Amino acid sequence: MKATFFKIFAFLLVTVSTYSYVGQLVPQFEEYPPAKKVIAVSTPPAELAAIGEELVRVKGGCLICHKVTETGNERGPDLRKAAGQAATRKPGMDAGAYLLEALTQPEVFLVPGYPKMMPSALKPPANMNLAEVKAIIAYLQTLGGAEVTVKIVADDIKAAKAAGPVHKGKEAMGAYGWPGRRRTIRPASCRPISASRFPRASVTKSSPTSWACRASPIRRPAPNRRGRTRGYVSGW
Ligand code: HEC
Repeated sequence: MKATFFKIFAFLLVTVSTYSYVGQLVPQFEEYPPAKKVIAVSTPPAELAAIGEELVRVKGGCLICHKVTETGNERGPDLRKAAGQAATRKPGMDAGAYLLEALTQPEVFLVPGYPKMMPSALKPPANMNLAEVKAIIAYLQTLGGAEVTVKIVADDIKAAKAAGPVHKGKEAMGAYGWPGRRRTIRPASCRPISASRFPRASVTKSSPTSWACRASPIRRPAPNRRGRTRGYVSGW
């Protein structure tokens, strides 16, 4: 008996230590989310372009309509060519200025053959600030093999900070009356119970009217000619 117990114990010990040893052999990695990239006046062009690429892919949602690789959406022009063609799109407008206009006021000039459908990058859904738009221009210029000409100036950063993070939800809530104006939303099956009708109902000072929302009262239908009642009818 004792020997069996010892054998089982030894077996367990060997198994557990083998597993933990193998577990220790596997290299351990710790992953952190990428550091939040902040656009500053001193951000070098290559880094600005990298931030711009991320904005185009994620926050901007630009790839819903554009492509930056061989395959992709073609509702809008191929963005790989945008920077190269920018200088010639509008006579008298240089590439940087054209790209800025194309992003912030896309309706002013439509690339021939395309409809008016692009939303301004400064407005929802992209909701960029000017510093972010400039980062995108840096990316488009890098993508097109052009020189990065955009410059982040102190005012862009100031404006971006002043605008603050975008919390449209709060504004929307205000517009729909919450939490500023509280409206009583109740399911159709609720009805007020007043103190006079139900003297024992819990009617407090702060809520002079309580809502009764439990299952509606069930009443038996009137008996039929044979004196039987069938089923229940519910309703207030
Ligand atoms: C709903 C579709 C749609 C979305 C989203 C969209 N675009 Fe566009 N974009 C277009 C269309 C269509 C055009 C061509 C018509 C025009 O000039 O507005 C265009 C034009 C452009 C041009 C000018 C290209 C040229 O060759 O002159 C640029 C640059 C551009 N978009 C960049 C962007 C970026 C960056 C984003 C994301 C912030 C974006 N677009 C989001 C549809 C879209």
